[in-house]
Amino acid sequence: MNDAAPNAAPQTFYLKDYKPFGYEVESVKLTFQLSPNATKVHSAIRFTPKADAEDNRFFLHGEQLSLISAKIDGTPVTARLVDGGLECDVPRTSFLWEAEVEIDPAANTALEGLYMSNGMYCTQCEAEGFRKITYYPDRPDVMSTFTVRIEGDEPVMLSNGNPTGAGEGWAEWHDPWPKPAYLFALVAGDLVNHPGSFTTKSGKDVELNIWVRPGDEGKCAFGMEALKKSMKWDEDVYGLEYDLDLFNIVAVDDFNMGAMENKGLNIFNSSCVLASPETSTDANFERIEAIIAHEYFHNWTGNRITCRDWFQLCLKEGLTVFRDAQFTADMRSEPVKRIEDVIALRARQFPEDGGPLAHPPRPEEFQEINNFYTATVYEKGAEVIGMLKRLVGDDNYYKALNLYFERHDGQACTIEDWLKVFEDATGRDLSQFKLWYSQAGTPRVKVTEDYADGTYTLTFEQSTPPTPGQPEKAPRVIPMAVGLLSPNGDEVRGTQVLELTEAKQSFTFDGLASKPVPSILREFSAPVILERETTNSERAFLLAHDTDPFNRWEAGNALAKEVRVAMVLDGAAPDAAYLDALEKLVRDDEQDPAFRALVLSPPSQSDIAQTLHERGHTPDPQKIYDASETFTQTLAQQLETSLPRLYAATTVEGPYVPDADGAGKRALNSRILSLLTRLDGGEQAARQYASADNMTQQYAALAALMKAEKGEAQSKAFFEQWQDDRLVMDKWFALQIACAAPETTAATAKELTQHPLFSMKNPNRFRAVMGALAGNHAGFHHASGAGYQLLAENLIALDSVNPQTTARMCAAFQTWKRYDSKRQAQIQAELERILATSGLSRDTHEMVSRMLSA
Ligand code: BES
Ligand code: ZN
Repeated sequence: MNDAAPNAAPQTFYLKDYKPFGYEVESVKLTFQLSPNATKVHSAIRFTPKADAEDNRFFLHGEQLSLISAKIDGTPVTARLVDGGLECDVPRTSFLWEAEVEIDPAANTALEGLYMSNGMYCTQCEAEGFRKITYYPDRPDVMSTFTVRIEGDEPVMLSNGNPTGAGEGWAEWHDPWPKPAYLFALVAGDLVNHPGSFTTKSGKDVELNIWVRPGDEGKCAFGMEALKKSMKWDEDVYGLEYDLDLFNIVAVDDFNMGAMENKGLNIFNSSCVLASPETSTDANFERIEAIIAHEYFHNWTGNRITCRDWFQLCLKEGLTVFRDAQFTADMRSEPVKRIEDVIALRARQFPEDGGPLAHPPRPEEFQEINNFYTATVYEKGAEVIGMLKRLVGDDNYYKALNLYFERHDGQACTIEDWLKVFEDATGRDLSQFKLWYSQAGTPRVKVTEDYADGTYTLTFEQSTPPTPGQPEKAPRVIPMAVGLLSPNGDEVRGTQVLELTEAKQSFTFDGLASKPVPSILREFSAPVILERETTNSERAFLLAHDTDPFNRWEAGNALAKEVRVAMVLDGAAPDAAYLDALEKLVRDDEQDPAFRALVLSPPSQSDIAQTLHERGHTPDPQKIYDASETFTQTLAQQLETSLPRLYAATTVEGPYVPDADGAGKRALNSRILSLLTRLDGGEQAARQYASADNMTQQYAALAALMKAEKGEAQSKAFFEQWQDDRLVMDKWFALQIACAAPETTAATAKELTQHPLFSMKNPNRFRAVMGALAGNHAGFHHASGAGYQLLAENLIALDSVNPQTTARMCAAFQTWKRYDSKRQAQIQAELERILATSGLSRDTHEMVSRMLSA
């Protein structure tokens, strides 16, 4: 089938094969002569053979480089070009390696290595992009100081560290902190800066800059404030100070990911840093604040202490996601952040962990590391740290973290190093806990209860379904935060963390006057699926009375899912008691608006599909869509008389401020508007659209109108107004598809791929269209198979342009085994078609074969 693929048997890398590099890299000096199609890179690298080297093969990675010359200690040498790099005979004593290569940044559409975006030079080296810039031991455990000279006629030329000199046509930089090559960065172009400054707790003044294309200056202020808040927070909470005199952020339009933590020179997808009230929604502001924090926090968790090899990726990513979540919780609302994170975890990580792409947070093998920047490495990696913190307690957590920074500063570390600091700081044995890092799959925890003579017993049984390569699983340590409520709604036992360590385990609570109602897995204390037989009236009771806000939301969420599952499976009508509970909550002005908005937000259709699948049913996407429509329509009708009043009462007056409070109120107001739009023919939404002075309200009005098929004029007006703003146009593209009915989704997306503003070369635009297609559950899975076909065609076309983005988007097919045999056959045919494409990238080849083979 796949003999056309050149990588029919691509190389697999294994954790167990780790061997250190045989040479120290004492220093690196790079000179760039910039030219769009023929940039010359000269490297001068001092290597010293390690006395105790297991392996002294001198191999330097290199890809897509034209080698012009190589010298050792000034004498030309002949290097042997081999697969993925070069080899050379070298002295057994310290020597200076020099090489000159030529590269073609303008032709680099993969956006990895040195490339051009809108006439600007920029780099992306993580994970293995530096090898596309020059020959080098491109592995994170090789650390060195870098000195960089840039020659060219660009007005602004930046690299890592501090500027050490500049003149007409050149600039020099030196980074005093030894770093792996993946943290190298260079930017050159016509850029303007939004300046700022920060004084560290020890009194050092740090110059801050956000560099953008001329015209974007007005969108930097929010990012700058977020950066300062992040710097302060890391000092206050972790005691960590910034360690250079300068911190630069650059915004680029063409970027595969969200942002990158290069030392002293973070590079951001412009969508993740540029913000203004007129062009960004509340959700954009929240994300920008979080991602600036995330990349900044990597300065310690990632840069000062890095990863020994890429199998350890969650060492830096899981920890940094955990830290940025703590930051957002502190800046905004802790329960709201937790609820949002759990929604995202269930939407992205649970399907991954339950399907053909399942892998542990620390994988043991890969073909292409770019395919392992996953929800499991990131989000589950962060969950594992949250569990560890809960198990050892806050004081011990910070004690262990202090030890981590003290013991490992300047090193390239492993998960073993990480767990050892916790063991040493607390005296605890973490060998069973470590299974979270090596076992894939989401544990199921079945809970049963018993009450007799004042004693209440909870019994937990844990098991994890098989995942690829892991048929059997051992029981894990699961921190289960539990509280008990009395039937009148009082809390009779406050939150207590039960530690599950066995396959089956019971815990008793004595002295209870009556059978309590348990509130289990408070704050979502472990990333597991809870299975417990309970009733909708008990869920409604918890929604009303639980003292844990997360579990209050969870009770409402579980109810929402039950009601929809019943509608899908039995054709039941929307549950009246649940509708009443929702109505009561929406009208309850004592409750936080953000919380009310979350409870009013329906579970996603793919979440319902996932739930049906977990219970052994085959989800029918059209039925799920119909149930969801019926439910929302019924809710709107039930609230009919109060909607105009609720809309008015929740409208935020006054100038737009992107804070958590205002965002919560606007989120509730938008939910109400979307319900109202189903009943009033779009009158209120049209008024809001016409008068909105900020994107949050403009977008909410447009979305409500388009969903109701009443937004044609506004959609046109929106396009006219924003056609020159790339980031706003991404919203417009995505919204056309998100609001389309199932039978027209694929056709709408297809038409948009013909739009003059569609582009394969800009990942944001490609994702706006194809991501929205894959995200429209009933449209993507429409019985015609047109959604599958369109995505596959576009992935095939994108693969030769940008393999990394193609491979990531292939994951839209990962849930294919959930569906009926007809849909499975359609998807399988598309996956096989992708795999049969000649010249398919290693990235996409790996993803598609994994999905097909499981
Ligand atoms: N180090 C990553 C960026 C990265 C990922 C580079 C994959 C190369 C390959 C960065 O720190 C990161 O994790 N960015 C996230 C956002 C973050 C808030 C989770 C991203 O880009 O999505
Ligand atoms: Zn990161």
